[in-house]
Amino acid sequence: MLSVVPSPVTVRAPSKVNLHLGVGDLRADGYHELTTVFQALSLADDLEITPANSLTLRVTGEGAAEVPTDRTNLVWKAAVRLAQVAGRAPLVEIAIDKGIPVAGGMAGGSADAAATLVGLNELWELGMNRDELAAVGAELGSDVPFALHGGTALGTGRGERLLPVLSRNAFHWVLALAKGGLSTPEVFTELDRLRVQGDPPRLGAPQEIMQALASGDAHQLAPLLGNDLQAAAVSLRPELRRTLRAGVEVGALAGLVSGSGPTCAFLCESAESAVAVAAELSGAGVARSVRTATGPVPGARVIGHEEPH
Ligand code: C5P
Repeated sequence: MLSVVPSPVTVRAPSKVNLHLGVGDLRADGYHELTTVFQALSLADDLEITPANSLTLRVTGEGAAEVPTDRTNLVWKAAVRLAQVAGRAPLVEIAIDKGIPVAGGMAGGSADAAATLVGLNELWELGMNRDELAAVGAELGSDVPFALHGGTALGTGRGERLLPVLSRNAFHWVLALAKGGLSTPEVFTELDRLRVQGDPPRLGAPQEIMQALASGDAHQLAPLLGNDLQAAAVSLRPELRRTLRAGVEVGALAGLVSGSGPTCAFLCESAESAVAVAAELSGAGVARSVRTATGPVPGARVIGHEEPH
């Protein structure tokens, strides 16, 4: 008798950079009101999900040693939550191959949660659409809906309410990965502290950035990049100032802290320029590691699933 070999589903989930991250006031629920423009980048995590006798996680790749493999991992929570919604048990092994820096401000954990929702929807043939998955994702973390959405999007609320943004052409990025991560809540708290002490500048509305994205011109986009969390990330990690300066000195059009940091993202005028900037930044010793990436790319999506036979 032929036994049915369980066939794994492979899902790729993108990282993100916030081209504009305007942080408003602290809300009663502990979150800050945001106005942000996300762009999904080709630096990605791949997850392989296989039917198993119990829920288990395995992690390899970039920063794997820092990633928990128990119920505290957002992937675990995503699997348990979707299983509840589907009325079944989360009997899968999930192998996470990390490309996105851990606690780096690039929404790696959210990407993994989004990939888990997409992968289990496929494996269990739930037939849920993106909006339904995003509703589950928003309960798990503010950035999960964008990791499902991908592309370029305007985010409001705590970042979970999304509208697509027209973006022409591919943009070329260099990412400077830092030693160690930053905790997102600590960076928000540091911004609140800086705001009580003084009045760090606040970003205005992102209209101009939308126009630059529609034009597809990196030179137009570069001076408009901005992140209200940058002052807080730099306050906690002053060495980021040097990294940000170095990227521009070696030919990037502009640099900014990605999300809550500590990864720094540099916009370059071409793919060739990005490779050159990456090489120079590696040599300058201002980053633990350097990557190139392009954006926008699609949200979490199945890249492999052989039907059982
Ligand atoms: O939603 P998520 O779990 O990713 O958020 C992590 C933490 O980041 C929150 O608990 C909160 O401290 C902070 N945060 C915030 N405002 C947001 C998003 C996140 O203050 N809009």
